[in-house]
Amino acid sequence: MRNESNSHGRRQFFKKAGWGAMGAMLTVSRLGRAQTAAGCGLTPPQTEGPFYPGESKFTIDNDLTRLPGRNSRPLGQVIYIQGHILGPGCRPVKGALVEIWQACSSGRYNNKKDTNRAKLDPNFRYWGEMITEEDGDYMFKTIIPGAYPADSDWTRPPHIHFKIAAMGYKELITQMYFAGQSLNDHDLILQQIPKAEQGAVIVEFAPAPQNLEPGSLIGNFDITIESVRG
Ligand SMILES: [Fe+2]
Repeated sequence: MRNESNSHGRRQFFKKAGWGAMGAMLTVSRLGRAQTAAGCGLTPPQTEGPFYPGESKFTIDNDLTRLPGRNSRPLGQVIYIQGHILGPGCRPVKGALVEIWQACSSGRYNNKKDTNRAKLDPNFRYWGEMITEEDGDYMFKTIIPGAYPADSDWTRPPHIHFKIAAMGYKELITQMYFAGQSLNDHDLILQQIPKAEQGAVIVEFAPAPQNLEPGSLIGNFDITIESVRG
């Protein structure tokens, strides 16, 4: 279970530490931005799932493709996910804590609860987090996760879990999906969202610009969260 008191203290720390404490982070501003939020309807929530790594596992790092002391790269297609964290009226949310966690390219989570026998990737970070700046921007570098069995007749499509927390806003847990994946149409969790709203969590990826890793893809996932004042 999430420790709410620790969670609060940690967020306060990040608020005080500010962005300047995160010098090693990949920065969003280098990427440029081809898209902006098309609309600011609340992003649909999704289940947390059983493989949340636990808050203590997270450290501020938005590059899941490298691990300290390891030169080898993780398997899989490298992607960049960028977006804004937005509040009511499309206002950017500064100081939002954005956590992501996901499976590696084989579809395995680095979590004892995952009984999938697929191989773990020792070069993959599996989770990351960052804090938004003034403009609400966030960005992660990672890989497309593999699909994995959720039941004997249900395979989860590739997806990335997101948890967003910000002072004055309700916590949001959701999942981001990849456009064009046929498993999306049969996923029992994604299909809990009305068809007309699924576009809010299904992201198109396209070749990344030349200043990013060659062969990588980039997609935009804007997330709108709800104020505690409603
Ligand atoms: Fe999952």
